[in-house]
Amino acid sequence: MNPAIDWKNIGFEYVDTGSHIRADCSDGRWSAPKLVTGNQLSLHIASTCLHYGQACFEGVKVFRQADGTAACFRAETHAGRLANTAQRLCMTPPPTALFVEAVTTLVRANKDFIPPYGTGASFYVRPLLLGTSPFIGVHESHDYIFLVMGMPVGPYYKNGLIPVKGLVQEQYDRAAPNGVGHVKAAGNYAAGMLGDKEARARGFDVSLYLDSATHTCIDEFTTSNFFGITRDRRYVTPDSKSILPSVTNNCLQQIARDMGYTVERRPVRWDELGNFSEIGACGTAAVITPVHSLTRGSETLTFGDAKTPGPVLSSLYQEIQSIQYGRKPDRYGWIQRLDA
Ligand SMILES: Cc1ncc(COP(=O)(O)O)c(C=O)c1O
Repeated sequence: MNPAIDWKNIGFEYVDTGSHIRADCSDGRWSAPKLVTGNQLSLHIASTCLHYGQACFEGVKVFRQADGTAACFRAETHAGRLANTAQRLCMTPPPTALFVEAVTTLVRANKDFIPPYGTGASFYVRPLLLGTSPFIGVHESHDYIFLVMGMPVGPYYKNGLIPVKGLVQEQYDRAAPNGVGHVKAAGNYAAGMLGDKEARARGFDVSLYLDSATHTCIDEFTTSNFFGITRDRRYVTPDSKSILPSVTNNCLQQIARDMGYTVERRPVRWDELGNFSEIGACGTAAVITPVHSLTRGSETLTFGDAKTPGPVLSSLYQEIQSIQYGRKPDRYGWIQRLDA
């Protein structure tokens, strides 16, 4: 354990652990992943990742378990999603086994940076895939670099499970129908930065995007999926071809079913939000963020209390965290123990 880190007060910020993993691909053949010292990368100035956005990433968490071991949460699912993203961006993804080996090697090498059990913190792993061939014409790369970095993180929102205020983005769309909203393309996040910046300046914590074609249905937040809870025990989450299939949302749907909720994945209209007693944003980084209010133009809808999370979101949060930290049985094979 790294004694220099104040585990209870770390945020969601870059921390340099001194090493990362790298594998290289040339014409479809991947090298074995290697541990590299330092945090710098040398790239050709004409790399396709720099000019044409052939860049994508993942976010995976590792949790120090109640029994002292370390466990990675659903690494293979994240590997599969990276492969889907790569396919859409015409990139060559690392095979799942390479992805998992890279994550495992990184975590073992950086085990002193895994926050101790009980601090509420975790070790965030960021796999990154880049097209690196020098092409000045628009063309898919022949060469790729797969990097995996990791760092200890505290809760995404410093105040923990405190409800936030959301703004519905009306000036900007996140993703076009048939575009790349369903994959984790790096450029999707640049496209969301201006809206988020303007929302923050107006006092909002998160931005919610509607479907770009009609602006009638909910898509998702900038970096998390949307879900709502109804008074008659339904967990409702949008079905849209422009949203990222969230691993966290997938887990929460299973947990909600186990708690006796009916899970509905379907288009969710803005004008039905009044039926929800609780609204949540979910993703690996923040796990669950309760959303107290959603403002669209001059209309503001509120959900539950402004200061305390609702009972269903609190239960879902406790449940998923109990599985992630090994306090409850891993009934669905979400946890992979690492020798670290
Ligand atoms: C746009 C977007 N939606 C949803 C999510 C949540 O996905 P996950 O639960 O797999 O982290 C993320 C984060 O990865 C995201 O960037």
